[in-house]
Amino acid sequence: MKDHTRNKTVLLTGGAGFIGSHTATVLLDRGYDVVLLDNFSNSKRDVPTRIEKITGKPCPCEEADLLHSGEAEAAFKKHDIGSVIHFAGLKAVGESVEKPLEYYENNLLSTINLLGSMRTAGVKNLIFSSSATVYKHDNPVPYYENFPLGAANPYGWTKVMIERIIMDTAATDFTFSAALLRYFNPIGAHQSGLIGEDPQGIPNNLLPYIAKVATGELPEVRIFGDNYDTPDGTGVRDYIHIMDLAEGHLLAMEYLRKKRSHEGDFIDIGESASGAAHEGANVHAFNLGTGKGTSVREIISAFERACGRELPKSVYPRRAGDLAIVYANTDLAERELGFKARLGIDEMCADAWRWQRHCAKLPE
Ligand code: WQD
Repeated sequence: MKDHTRNKTVLLTGGAGFIGSHTATVLLDRGYDVVLLDNFSNSKRDVPTRIEKITGKPCPCEEADLLHSGEAEAAFKKHDIGSVIHFAGLKAVGESVEKPLEYYENNLLSTINLLGSMRTAGVKNLIFSSSATVYKHDNPVPYYENFPLGAANPYGWTKVMIERIIMDTAATDFTFSAALLRYFNPIGAHQSGLIGEDPQGIPNNLLPYIAKVATGELPEVRIFGDNYDTPDGTGVRDYIHIMDLAEGHLLAMEYLRKKRSHEGDFIDIGESASGAAHEGANVHAFNLGTGKGTSVREIISAFERACGRELPKSVYPRRAGDLAIVYANTDLAERELGFKARLGIDEMCADAWRWQRHCAKLPE
């Protein structure tokens, strides 16, 4: 079967979303062609146009839903895809607890349809948008890629299960290769201020919530617990600039394109939910983080520096399911991909604030 890996066109499912749109700008700037595929259930229809404005390159977008297998097939017939980066999926932890069936159906079935379409089209290169939520909560920090997996909510379980589906698929075809990118806390925005995190409704995550307090759209920052066993008592996470994260996708794709699989080439990707990784599968898991932890209070202070004023804040009870400290060990991504996060907390907050002002149509 023809191997399309050398084709420079990259399909980004969920490409109009936060991480997909920023990854598209990095790929276009490096000379790749991209095609976005999005059902716009959680993204804006003008994102492809904004990507074109940023890069000066065409950014075609297919409005399609991977739950309809024919729509996935059609995208591969229309474009000569060399690699796929799979971002599409529902991703709200709290919502997944309330609607588990919708999450399992949407995230798993859309991935199964995508993998089937890739097999039919002879596309052998997949980068999957995984998450730090795949790691068992009782793991010590920092998290390593071979730590035991296990989630605390249906959203996290969909990510664990999709990693398993990809491993089992790769085990049937040694010319198929995949990278499982386990994100920690992506924040910030493209320096142009034209694209950024744009959650619908009241944000669940810390940074977009703070940004809406800074624009006056929300009354105060809620600090969920200040009695954790951390330096200042607030939760600690590994925040990574979205542009560094986007770069990590480019590096992972180029790593797979260079690295052809060899029979028996065992890649240790650590324990999965149901036992040891598949021998012979050309599947590689990488943590994409900074390797550093930052507390809620430190993030708030950095955002106050970015927006130039103190923000109203109050301490609230801990949020159910939250851990005190989560951050990555990034040695593997550094060694294998040459990945290294470059941007710090102040750049993340300054870029997020520029984007938020653009969103809220506030003066520059
Ligand atoms: C960060 C810290 C909260 C909101 C997220 C996603 C998860 C995964 C990883 C994709 C915690 C505190 C938060 C607020 C607060 N992403 N907080 N006030 O929980 O680490 O996980 O990133 O796979 O799906 O949920 O991120 O931004 O929600 O919380 O004090 O209004 O900020 O307690 O310590 P989290 P978060």
